[in-house]
Amino acid sequence: MAEVKYKGENAATGHEGEIVVDIDHISKSFGSKEVLKDISLQLKKGENIVVLGKSGQGKSVTIQCIVGLLTPDNGTVKVFGDDVAGMDEDELKKLRTRVGFLFQSGALYDSMTVRENLEFPLTRVLKMADKAEIDTRVEEVLEGVGLMDAVDKMPSDLSGGMRKRVGLARTLIVKPEIMLYDEPTTGLDPITSREISELILNMQKKYQTSSIIITHDMECAKITADRVVVMRDGTYIAEGNFDELQHSDDEFVRSFFTETK
Ligand SMILES: Nc1ncnc2c1ncn2[C@@H]1O[C@H](COP(=O)(O)OP(=O)(O)OP(=O)(O)O)[C@@H](O)[C@H]1O
Ligand SMILES: [Mg+2]
Repeated sequence: MAEVKYKGENAATGHEGEIVVDIDHISKSFGSKEVLKDISLQLKKGENIVVLGKSGQGKSVTIQCIVGLLTPDNGTVKVFGDDVAGMDEDELKKLRTRVGFLFQSGALYDSMTVRENLEFPLTRVLKMADKAEIDTRVEEVLEGVGLMDAVDKMPSDLSGGMRKRVGLARTLIVKPEIMLYDEPTTGLDPITSREISELILNMQKKYQTSSIIITHDMECAKITADRVVVMRDGTYIAEGNFDELQHSDDEFVRSFFTETK
């Protein structure tokens, strides 16, 4: 197991950049089920962290703690230096304009066109009113996800991959500083998956976005990750870059990389 870098040994030092998300020894149980036992993670500005782990391990629970949708039983989560558990509704609302969350389901409003879906966060969340400015943002983001042609379509007229891209566009349109991607490529064909992964990378480069990306898609991990963490039994058991973990001595860690899609 010598090659595996364990949390603590290789923890972010804070010298290399601003820490935007600081998860400090959190735990979370549901009833008698202990889901998160001891999770610590520091996301630095401009960094992409990929989280690997089997189903039901608490990956989604962890990122829900970052935006205050769930509260840990113990430990703290700080975003931009502020403790999320101490925020009131207004502060949480404000936080969620800075932290974009691409849900695992990626739900769109089915009764609204693509354009209306995209305008919604601008008018409701950012309270933008300038029509020209709104149009520019909508066009910019649709171009980014390659869906200019779909602007007047209803979600039901789109393929799964297109819906996913609209979901991504709707999250990106407010230009969040932090992005939380929960399985962004699940259910997509390999080509669309690759496009989404490259889009995630482009967002990081273009806007210095910091991201946590939960994925089972190793190509997505390879394309997007600056750093990979592996979750097991409620804690992170390994941390390193893609190549390090791919060649880890730990069979469990390596098993994620040998699975074929
Ligand atoms: N709000 C909740 N109330 C009760 N139990 C929950 C809640 N959210 C998650 N859980 C439970 O916590 C565990 C971890 O769930 P989570 O969704 O984080 O897993 P995951 O690692 O994201 O899995 P997957 O890869 O399948 O998405 C599961 O057993 C789930 O049933
Ligand atoms: Mg999940």
